[in-house]
Amino acid sequence: MSNLAKTLFNDQVRSVQTLCLNPCLDIAVSAPDLVIGDLNLYESLTAQPGGKGLNVAAHLSKQGINSSTFLAMPETSRGFSNAFADARFGACEYRVPGKLRINIKVNVRQEDGNMVMTEINGTGDRIDSDTAAGLVDMLIHSAKISNVLVLSGSLLPGIPADIYSRLSKSSHEANGITVLDASRAAMKMAINAGVDAFKPNLDEFRQLTGLPCDTIEQVARTSELYCRSKACDLILCSLGNRGAVITDGERTYFSPVPDPDATIVNLTGAGDAMTAVLAAFASTTPLNQRFGEYVENCEIAELLKIAMANAQATVRLPSNEVPSQDQVLSWLPQVAVRPI
Ligand SMILES: Nc1ncnc2c1ncn2[C@@H]1O[C@H](COP(=O)(O)OP(=O)(O)OP(=O)(O)O)[C@@H](O)[C@H]1O
Ligand SMILES: [Mg+2]
Repeated sequence: MSNLAKTLFNDQVRSVQTLCLNPCLDIAVSAPDLVIGDLNLYESLTAQPGGKGLNVAAHLSKQGINSSTFLAMPETSRGFSNAFADARFGACEYRVPGKLRINIKVNVRQEDGNMVMTEINGTGDRIDSDTAAGLVDMLIHSAKISNVLVLSGSLLPGIPADIYSRLSKSSHEANGITVLDASRAAMKMAINAGVDAFKPNLDEFRQLTGLPCDTIEQVARTSELYCRSKACDLILCSLGNRGAVITDGERTYFSPVPDPDATIVNLTGAGDAMTAVLAAFASTTPLNQRFGEYVENCEIAELLKIAMANAQATVRLPSNEVPSQDQVLSWLPQVAVRPI
């Protein structure tokens, strides 16, 4: 095991809190021979709690890193809480009116024999401004005592888009560390306010920069500019089956997907696997040190390798499973990293 991997899995000094401000019930149906407009029987069906903050907490928990999750939980929660009661991370629920959204994934066999997934997602019921204000107040307060705050995922309609930027400011006032994995307005506002670590995918990076970022080179150079402008100290930009780029503004590395043509079992939460590695790394930052200083003395090439290994292990497991530490480590020798 590399030194960084040892540190990351064993030397947690800061607590981690993840947010789940638009949780969902993920229903995956396998109906290989589905006929549209006919009565079909499904081959298998799973229903499990979903949401980025929850995914990140599940990864951390499986790898022995302690975290807690804050959920904005609709009154009609469809058994959600029971479904993750066995997880090792603690969860705090803030009740909001409305019904939990449901995301449906239907897997059907194509003519060439491969399965293809069609997704039908819900947006979540809108919450009223008083409820939203109460939720924001509570989170701002808790950000002031949190050490690593993972700002990830979408927001229930009615939650103001500046919530991640406000939380990031509060967290920084208390020497906290923020890890951002969001999109659209909430992401842009948080980056304007400044975060510590940032994990966009290519689409999110395009939304932020307004640039096509078609080449890895352009992703690398543009990410460097964001780090140098102090929008964040570390960017890990994931590029789907092309791999990922990491930079702290001075050092920049690229890692390709080891075997891009291999059959992938599940792509859900591949990016969350990387965000979890950034959060795990952030949790090892000494309490008296700023994240930016800590990053300067760390092998970010190795960090990219571990993040890629976690993503590779994740995409090869069914969607309700997160990899163990051994499964992640077994991918390390296959992940290549080079300066770019
Ligand atoms: N088709 C693929 N084959 C192999 N690995 C993949 C594939 N797609 C994604 N990955 C792995 O997962 C990582 C993250 O993927 P991606 O950029 O799609 O994240 P994301 O869009 O943030 O995902 P999420 O749905 O979790 O938000 C990639 O860097 C890569 O390591
Ligand atoms: Mg993502």
